[in-house]
Amino acid sequence: MKVLFVCLGNICRSPSAEGVFRTMSDAETDSAGTSGWHVGDAPYGPMQKAAKNRGYDLSDLRARAFVAQDFDRFDLIIGMDDSNLQNIEALRPVGNETPVVCFTDYAPSSGMSEVPDPYYTRDFDGALDLIEACAKGLQADIG
Ligand code: 4NP
Repeated sequence: MKVLFVCLGNICRSPSAEGVFRTMSDAETDSAGTSGWHVGDAPYGPMQKAAKNRGYDLSDLRARAFVAQDFDRFDLIIGMDDSNLQNIEALRPVGNETPVVCFTDYAPSSGMSEVPDPYYTRDFDGALDLIEACAKGLQADIG
């Protein structure tokens, strides 16, 4: 199983999702951003710090842009918010049926329909709380 996590910048939410989920699953994981703004960058400093406090080391991750070929390379593509889902779907190749879902679908009890962007909210711990809940749900679903 190959899972791709996608957000806007690929320096806060999707690398955190990857960093959390890879500690609980044998699935192959990667992450990408719908923008190319931070290509080559390590995860955002305050995000890395908050993750490290919980035992997740994100320091090996580097941002890259989401590309249409990702639809053929992954079995499941997971966006963090509705805007991500729209930007992902805009690149879907004709005939491709790879599932694209929102991460919060895996944590219905959270009552959240999106993972709020901590780059703007500055609530890195709140984002990690939700990401951990979603990752547990995903693990229960796909192993
Ligand atoms: P992310 O957060 O999509 O969770 O990585 C963002 C990081 C950077 C920017 C936007 C969102 N930015 O505008 O640079």
